[in-house]
Amino acid sequence: MNTSLFGMEPPAPLSRDILGAGAAVLAGFALSVEDEVLCALMSVVEQSPFRNMVTPGGFRMSVAMSNCGALGWITDRTGYRYDLIDPETNCPWPNMPTAFQKIAVAAAEEAGFPGFVPDACLINRYEPGARLSLHQDKNERDFTQPIVSVSLGLPATFLFGGLEREDKTRRIQIVHGDVLVWGGPARLRYHGIAPLRDGEHPQLGRIRYNLTFRNAG
Ligand code: SIN
Ligand code: FE2
Repeated sequence: MNTSLFGMEPPAPLSRDILGAGAAVLAGFALSVEDEVLCALMSVVEQSPFRNMVTPGGFRMSVAMSNCGALGWITDRTGYRYDLIDPETNCPWPNMPTAFQKIAVAAAEEAGFPGFVPDACLINRYEPGARLSLHQDKNERDFTQPIVSVSLGLPATFLFGGLEREDKTRRIQIVHGDVLVWGGPARLRYHGIAPLRDGEHPQLGRIRYNLTFRNAG
């Protein structure tokens, strides 16, 4: 019997180290907690709404962002940085929900990084056509702590490069519930998201959300 006809296909097995040392795709790792995570996400963005920030070069980002946790990542004409205060609300960022914290710590451990202490979660919202150009996550203080990235909603093509901007980039298809972790020797690898293809996700419609957990220090 073809169980996929009935939507009962088990998640693909966890695939590790296909991306090189320190990086792993944990396929479907967030599926068992998707309801808690989505509910927590909606409550966070009610407090600190999504906004399209401006890069130091003056470009409005196509990805809309918010944050939760003690520190939030922001960009404006003066540069990129972490801040304790949301510049839109002038209040501290919303607390990191327990469901967020738990999935981030569990995924890090599963990928070989026990003891992850996330104090910042950048929340990205992609609409069709939105993209994130190749960059390194390097505004954090402690590069011994990994990056944990939870994807929800529409599928995306994750671009995973090397330690130099010019290095060859791999294209990885990620779907709702997948978690990517990169740390150790992979911590400063360039990465980005190709322009989001239009589609309709059963729960989230024409949207992709991504939660990126860091220890920003
Ligand atoms: C990021 O690099 O901050 C986010 C990547 C993603 O949206 O998957
Ligand atoms: Fe990033």
